[in-house]
Amino acid sequence: MQLEPHHKKTFWPHVLPSLVVFVILGGVIVYELGATKELREKTAALESDLAATKATTIALTLSNNQLSQKLSDLRLATLGISDTLASTQQNIDAVKTQVGGVEQTVGAIGGAVGTLQKLSQVDPEILKKYSKVYFMNENYVPAHLIAVPQEYIYSDTRPEQILTNVSPYLKNLLDAAKADGITLFVKSGYRSFAEQKSLKSNYSVIYGKGTANSFSAEQGYSEHQLGTAVDFITTGLNGKLDGFGTTPSYKWLLENAHRYGFILSYPKSNTYYVYEPWHWRFVGVKLATFLHDAKVNFYDLDQRDIDKYLASTFD
Ligand code: DAL
Ligand code: ZN
Repeated sequence: MQLEPHHKKTFWPHVLPSLVVFVILGGVIVYELGATKELREKTAALESDLAATKATTIALTLSNNQLSQKLSDLRLATLGISDTLASTQQNIDAVKTQVGGVEQTVGAIGGAVGTLQKLSQVDPEILKKYSKVYFMNENYVPAHLIAVPQEYIYSDTRPEQILTNVSPYLKNLLDAAKADGITLFVKSGYRSFAEQKSLKSNYSVIYGKGTANSFSAEQGYSEHQLGTAVDFITTGLNGKLDGFGTTPSYKWLLENAHRYGFILSYPKSNTYYVYEPWHWRFVGVKLATFLHDAKVNFYDLDQRDIDKYLASTFD
């Protein structure tokens, strides 16, 4: 029978395309199914991740809120501590002020006691204006007198004395002058009431009372009776005081004597005596320096202002 091959020939060409389409479709369907499954799985995983992320976000939000709360609490606590610190500082400042006040009071009391103690040791006469103003009677003798060392005295025969407390100041002055190449000697130091009386009496006889009064104090009015005044002299004047005002020694004293507590009692045009460039009086470094720097004369100050320096006379 010849049918078979013919049958074969006509069957396959009709079925084959459908079969191919079927197979392809089947493949596509299987593939799509697989992809859909994978997609679903991925979606599920993503949804799961999203849920986890949401949970984490909620947790973070919560914890952020808690942190904010804590921060706020901390801020409040810090403010509280700041307040406490501020009030503590105020208390400390108040205590410090009180302590400062007490210290000042104690210091002032200490200073006052110190000043009183020093005052009790200083002769109240020592800064008084004599020279026709204040009077020392015949019984006034300085508390302690000491001999001026011979090397500082001009006369080989006549010893000179000075108030013991003033002695170191005088010695320092004379040593400093010597170190600067200045020749300076003590011509006259302490004179008692009796010595001044005798001297003035002699001058009055020689020069007449009026002239003598212009350069020599009456007994009881001479700064020499205090033991704090010195007449300086230098070489080249034949033992006389006249001319001392033009010597380098006098110039040196004008520039330096205050450093050792000495002042010029009778400058030019003073209202007490003639100009006495040789006559220097110890009043203490503090007062002497004030007078020197302010270019003021001792006798031009009020006694009450001078007395403010009394306690510091021997500082
Ligand atoms: N020459 C002075 C003023 C006196 O005698 O104290
Ligand atoms: Zn004198």
